[in-house]
Amino acid sequence: MKLVNQDWLIRENGFDRNRIAADGNKFMIGNGYMGCRGTMEEYTRGELAAVTLAGLYDQVDGKWREPVNAPHPLYAVIEFEGQSLSVLDCEPVEHEQALDIRSAVHHRRTVFKADRGAELVVESERFCSAERLNVIAGRLSVTCSADGQLTIRTGIDGEVWDINGPHLEKLEAAERQNSLLVTAVTRELQVPLAVAERISSSMEAEGREAVTMEVRYDQQSGSVFRTISFACRAGKTYTFDRFAAVCTGLDEEEPGAAALRLCREAAGTGYTGLLAEHEACWERKWALADVVIEGDDEAQLALRYSLYQLLIIAPEHSEKLSIPARGLSGQVYKGAVFWDTEMFMLPFFLYTQPETARNLVMYRIHTLDGARRKAAEYGYEGAFYAWESQETGDDACTLFNVNDVFTGRPMRTYFRDKQVHISADAAYGIWEYYKFTGDEGILLQGGAETVWECARFFYSYAYYNPLKQRYEVLDVTGPDEYHERVNNNAFTNAMVKRTLFIALEAMEILHAACPEQYEALVQNSAIKPEHIRDMHDRLYVPEPDSETGLIEQFDRYFTLEDVPLHELKGRVLNKHEYWGGGNGLATTTQILKQADIVLMLHLFKDAYDTVIKKANWAYYEPRTEHGSSLSACIYAMVAADTGSPDWGYPYFMRTATIDLTGESKQYVGDLYIGGTHPAANGGAWMAAVQGFAGIRFDGECATISPSLPEKWQAVQTRLILRGQQIKVRVGRQQVELEADAGNTSEVRVAAYGQSLTLEPGVSAVLRMGQE
Ligand code: BGC
Repeated sequence: MKLVNQDWLIRENGFDRNRIAADGNKFMIGNGYMGCRGTMEEYTRGELAAVTLAGLYDQVDGKWREPVNAPHPLYAVIEFEGQSLSVLDCEPVEHEQALDIRSAVHHRRTVFKADRGAELVVESERFCSAERLNVIAGRLSVTCSADGQLTIRTGIDGEVWDINGPHLEKLEAAERQNSLLVTAVTRELQVPLAVAERISSSMEAEGREAVTMEVRYDQQSGSVFRTISFACRAGKTYTFDRFAAVCTGLDEEEPGAAALRLCREAAGTGYTGLLAEHEACWERKWALADVVIEGDDEAQLALRYSLYQLLIIAPEHSEKLSIPARGLSGQVYKGAVFWDTEMFMLPFFLYTQPETARNLVMYRIHTLDGARRKAAEYGYEGAFYAWESQETGDDACTLFNVNDVFTGRPMRTYFRDKQVHISADAAYGIWEYYKFTGDEGILLQGGAETVWECARFFYSYAYYNPLKQRYEVLDVTGPDEYHERVNNNAFTNAMVKRTLFIALEAMEILHAACPEQYEALVQNSAIKPEHIRDMHDRLYVPEPDSETGLIEQFDRYFTLEDVPLHELKGRVLNKHEYWGGGNGLATTTQILKQADIVLMLHLFKDAYDTVIKKANWAYYEPRTEHGSSLSACIYAMVAADTGSPDWGYPYFMRTATIDLTGESKQYVGDLYIGGTHPAANGGAWMAAVQGFAGIRFDGECATISPSLPEKWQAVQTRLILRGQQIKVRVGRQQVELEADAGNTSEVRVAAYGQSLTLEPGVSAVLRMGQE
């Protein structure tokens, strides 16, 4: 097996037991339907082997609801002369794991020294087909330096990683139509699930039977393995191609029959054919998504890797799915969707895959009823979106989300009750999509209703302060979760105001296009558009201080203890202790978890001048722990925006490398939170394209204001703006543009104070200093 695409390879040499969990994330593959952790063929539950399914959740014994991991279809372990050649039992002499991010293929090469000196080379590659979403294909090969008896145990392993499982029951393992098959149903909702696998070997092609074939079932765990045993010859390579299909009742009437059929068809196409069609899909994905950074190879690979992570989990195929905070890397964070999607991932999809952006936005529209139920549960009107959202939109977040490391007792946290900005983020996402694409259909198909419901929620949540004659939003938690239940968090208030504006605009559009729908919404509500307008006009949003330019994060934030971050770190008693909550370390101080005011300055960048942005960046950055992976990219962007890209660069690198280094928080209290970080992956794109290249499209004109870090000579990318594609190369002194010949209308672009209109097929250059 050859590793091509050398510039697109993520590789790691040597086997290190301590890296098993981190490498499972780093080397993950996926296709939006499922994610397959970067584990070795011989790994099972203990090494966190998992194939995590998008959108299928289960709950058992009152424990947290979480996504379901399917039985693992590409399990394999090799024995030579009775000796197990698993990296877990036999220290390999060479070991390499690699990921080709250009074609989303996982590779592994391990050399073992067996007892009598024989050297065995085990190689494998696998991919989750981008063309056939239910299919995983793999190729395993073994070469031995001596003759001997080789045994390969392959099949479907039910012993997969589960945090709050087991989630499957009525497990049946069987052999059908030359395939192994495991069927089961989920425990809570009884959704059927099936995994089928079949194998073909190079020996068959040679006309030689794969000698012994024995099939063993373990009905308890839902495993079925076949053992192939034969006399191998020195120096000869034996290859096994593996075809697997995973189906559930969410996508198929009869998952068992469908899995067998898909598996048979995959085997019919063959490994090479499947790989070719998969690679063709990935070529198309990259043609739209790639960002080239000239002059900085390290940043280049990290950014591409971040985009890879987004592309393997993007729900291109369904508008009922969004992207969980840990992608499809396992069950961490309950497989739940947070504000991360709208605020950190949506921009990438808007510019490169608008149809996927639409799916992400539609997910919120489909889960509106869950948000309505949550608002009603708390006694509010409208839609209060789930802080941790699963398939119905009901909140998976518990009132006790963190355990205190000192007492082991659950801590009361207020993520669920008080992070009300989530409804504003959902509304913001819908409006961003609408403005960007001009797709009015989204508003008429539930988008206007959704943002209206979010606005009604805020009207019912807020208070009118008669003395100050203004509306205030009290008792909330902003993005900085270390300070819960605060009043007038500036970010939240600004987002609420934006939501009210969006609702008024969207309702006008609805009024004009579907007056009956509009009337029905208004008539069914005691809160009328004029109430929303009044609140919009008189809502208090904290403003910059006239002398210092600082915006107070929330009422009385500046009265909290102003302790340096390093000093606070010195007070830590347990490295996993939670800094927020009732008596957390940061609670009584000005230390914040993540960008809060600075995020507001980024989102509402036109409302604040550079002096204000700089003053707040300089004040809040030293006080930010960056305890969330959502933080650093925002500081990078605001630094770029204020003309200091080199300040921003380290924050960009920190964001873009988070899943490569594995250096992120792994625990909050005793809660494991490891996994991939799609919000940071999206943040890396935002920082590079919107931040440093300074590209911004408002629905009519793409404005480019470059602010490149010192090392970067240029950023090249392709943009899809209202269905029209342009290639841009943003250099240090000039912006080069090329509109696709296939475009159907012109594209407006502005840079360095000049603007132009690009007809289809036309190229142009805008130069600095020509204004
Ligand atoms: C952050 C939240 C984020 C969540 C999921 C938390 O640590 O503070 O803002 O939504 O992780 O990524």
